[in-house]
Amino acid sequence: MKPSQALAALLSQCIPSSLGAEFIQRPGPSQQGCHENTATRFTLPDPPYVNYFYSDCHSSSQVVVTSPLPSSDLALIQPRLLIAWPSGNSGIVSLFEPQSGVNGSLAISLRNSSSGNYLDPVYEPSGSSAPVVGVTGLVYFNASARLTVPILGSIRTIRDYVEGSGILVPSIQNAIQFSESEDGGVILSRLWLDSETTTTLSFTPSSSDSSAHANNRTIVLDAGEYTFRASFNYPQLEQLRPENILTKEAQYLFDEAPDQALALEFLSYTNKVLAGAWRFLTYFGRDSMISLLLLEPILATGNGSITEAGISALLERINRTDGTVAHEETIGDYATYLSLQQGVNSTAPQYDYKMIDTDYFLPIVLADYFIKNDVGKDRAAEILSRRPIENPANSKLTYGQLALLNAEKIMEATAAFAAPGGQVKENMIRLKPNQPVGEWRDSNAGLGGGRIPYNVNTALVPAGLRAVAALARAGFFPDHPGWAEEADKFAQVWEDETLRFFRVHVPREEARSLLDDYVSSNDLPFPSRSGDVQDDVTFYGLALDGQDEQSVVRVMNTDDCFRLFLINTTNQAQLSAFINQTADHLLQPFPLGLATDVGPFVANPAYGTAPFYASTFTNRDYHGTVVWSWQLAMMAAGLERQLGRCTAADGDAPEFCGDEALHDKVLAAYNRLWDVIEQNSPQLSGEVWSWRYEGGRFVPVPLGEYSPTESNIRQLWSLTFLAVRRNEGLRHQLRTTTW
Ligand SMILES: *[C@@H]1O[C@H](CO)[C@@H](O)[C@H](O)[C@H]1NC(C)=O
Ligand SMILES: *[C@@H]1O[C@H](CO)[C@@H](O)[C@H](O)[C@H]1NC(C)=O
Ligand SMILES: *[C@@H]1O[C@H](CO)[C@@H](O)[C@H](O)[C@H]1NC(C)=O
Ligand SMILES: *[C@@H]1O[C@H](CO)[C@@H](O)[C@H](O)[C@H]1NC(C)=O
Ligand SMILES: *[C@@H]1O[C@H](CO)[C@@H](O)[C@H](O)[C@H]1NC(C)=O
Ligand SMILES: *[C@@H]1O[C@H](CO)[C@@H](O)[C@H](O)[C@H]1NC(C)=O
Ligand SMILES: *[C@@H]1O[C@H](CO)[C@@H](O)[C@H](O)[C@H]1NC(C)=O
Ligand SMILES: *[C@@H]1O[C@H](CO)[C@@H](O)[C@H](O)[C@H]1NC(C)=O
Ligand SMILES: *[C@@H]1O[C@H](CO)[C@@H](O)[C@H](O)[C@H]1NC(C)=O
Repeated sequence: MKPSQALAALLSQCIPSSLGAEFIQRPGPSQQGCHENTATRFTLPDPPYVNYFYSDCHSSSQVVVTSPLPSSDLALIQPRLLIAWPSGNSGIVSLFEPQSGVNGSLAISLRNSSSGNYLDPVYEPSGSSAPVVGVTGLVYFNASARLTVPILGSIRTIRDYVEGSGILVPSIQNAIQFSESEDGGVILSRLWLDSETTTTLSFTPSSSDSSAHANNRTIVLDAGEYTFRASFNYPQLEQLRPENILTKEAQYLFDEAPDQALALEFLSYTNKVLAGAWRFLTYFGRDSMISLLLLEPILATGNGSITEAGISALLERINRTDGTVAHEETIGDYATYLSLQQGVNSTAPQYDYKMIDTDYFLPIVLADYFIKNDVGKDRAAEILSRRPIENPANSKLTYGQLALLNAEKIMEATAAFAAPGGQVKENMIRLKPNQPVGEWRDSNAGLGGGRIPYNVNTALVPAGLRAVAALARAGFFPDHPGWAEEADKFAQVWEDETLRFFRVHVPREEARSLLDDYVSSNDLPFPSRSGDVQDDVTFYGLALDGQDEQSVVRVMNTDDCFRLFLINTTNQAQLSAFINQTADHLLQPFPLGLATDVGPFVANPAYGTAPFYASTFTNRDYHGTVVWSWQLAMMAAGLERQLGRCTAADGDAPEFCGDEALHDKVLAAYNRLWDVIEQNSPQLSGEVWSWRYEGGRFVPVPLGEYSPTESNIRQLWSLTFLAVRRNEGLRHQLRTTTW
């Protein structure tokens, strides 16, 4: 069956998936033009949330309905209707409470409308300005509801409220107009700070019992059914077509894994790839690059492809003053808001350059496409001669000049450590002053207060340097002929001399008492496993220069995956010891190691010696004892790459391949990881998940159940399992089951 036929077959049927997702309609790749039946709709339930997606050639929308479950923490989970739009990173949230005042007594849900759909488009062309676009549908309240907080404008404003303990900006809130319409409905609308865009949300009674009232800026909706309509007039993005997202060979994934492939499509536009739905529906540098790298084997290439959209978005946004790759962009209403805060009336985008890891990913991505990829090789000249169009600050430079600025920054920042005698902590890459974050664990406590992150210094820096060397050898930096050798020399030093700074060694007896103390002092529900400690415990800590004068942040973690995925070291003793401890951690149950029924935790604070470790790395913390999907993917891909070196044609197999016990252990770790990945398939496309302990097992729980930081139902880098698949050959090599 050709993909288009397979997809056409989807139009009329419900595809059950592990998540119970429904796929109602989807255009075939051959359908061009913009009419109603080019719509893609899909639904992803994730109680207490249900996510509805709608996109067509005019606009894309995500609607999230939250309705508390009997088990929900009612202080965190409140009835809510949220609409998110990629263009301008815009949206609406409306929070409700039961009129009765009893939390938990109000349920809210979407209902099929007469069209048979949960969502239908709003599209009203409007002469010279942007058309009014959005979505409409039926929402049902089972009890009388009061709208407590509406926010209309930017997703960032909504996140400030939801995640920032209730921040509301008077100039934004007071601009909301409340009115009643002739058909008995209520309308909220707000003119953006740009004085051009208006966001509107309305509820119109659509059942005999429903009736709506607006009074003194308060809205009350009686129990019943309402037509809601959410719209705005702002220039829209252009979604990429399936053939520009996946290669021809991978188009079957739209059929085989529609809930992931359609989500990737929802996040893919001609000018950028978005990081996640709904909280990060816009450009994020790290997310784009990790996803491009892990998805590489299946991504479309060439002019107009997702690969080039992703690369262009990165180059566009580089800081022209110092070559830093942007972390996040601020666009739409929030950009105007920030400018006005700074005393400037401007709608220009703003970029966040606080991260220190993004710089090093960029040359890796560029080298993979412009050197290793046959299509990319021929596209390099054209792409690098382009000029930025979205970032006015860079409009005088070419993409090539911006890439050079990034490479110059890398060479300068890494020189001191690579110099003779320079291998000291002071020369390592550290967080920027006054920034508590700087790499992927970007919550305030994510690095345990550490300043010199493990992944950046031991993996990203040397891999970035190898890529700069490769680009230089291929002629990309004609002004710096010396880099071809120099960057490789730097890389060698960073590869060989950084790991030891992060090494934590815990003697067996101490490990036992730390484990017992961790579990008992924190009243944790699982066994301490102290009796299982056979050897001294070693791991590489999260960062250096932690809080309370800790020289290393003593948190075991999954960041080994960066080195496994990005570095093919030939330092045999170091590689054997490294991969040995990684395998141990993946095989040993938490809190001895990282392994649990819900996947390896990204952090294990049990060997920390100060109380703050256990109290800041919990199952309520964004980077605590929780599981991140993309870390599983990079770990699986990294182990596969290292194991792949054992059979590579070049005959340069690393020493660990010949150490039977060690090689078996690494194979066992790879396979154990895949077993748990497969057991957790319902979670994999989400961003992060937490757990509860029940019947002697860890059971997955959405992080949002414990924390105002809710997880994204679909996250770009969690879709990488579309490409990262279990290597069956490595299952068959497994000889023993003693691990
Ligand atoms: C009821 O819900 C509100 C809004 O979410 C919350 O602030 C409040 O703490 C809740 N009350 C209880 C008793 O859970
Ligand atoms: C509405 O739903 C909530 C949550 O399921 C439930 O507790 C409540 O009894 C329902 N109210 C009515 C009037 O059915
Ligand atoms: C909504 O309508 C679609 C298409 O008619 C149907 O497949 C689906 O089962 C309906 N869902 C509900 C909850 O009624
Ligand atoms: C309108 O609401 C505000 C804030 O809740 C309140 O202070 C004021 O008294 C209300 N006005 C009327 C006329 O009810
Ligand atoms: C790439 O696509 C753009 C827009 O579709 C077009 O203007 C340009 O000519 C194309 N370049 C090549 C080399 O095909
Ligand atoms: C760009 O880099 C320069 C030099 O480090 C810095 O002063 C400037 O603030 C950066 N730009 C932005 C928008 O952060
Ligand atoms: C900003 O500029 C726009 C367009 O010139 C204008 O309509 C708006 O009132 C200005 N906003 C402020 C706060 O000055
Ligand atoms: C691997 O680690 C184990 C302890 O888990 C140790 O006994 C063994 O000697 C190590 N092997 C190598 C090659 O380092
Ligand atoms: C490391 O080796 C593996 C297996 O040969 C290969 O797939 C991978 O691309 C190599 N990585 C680097 C950074 O060269």
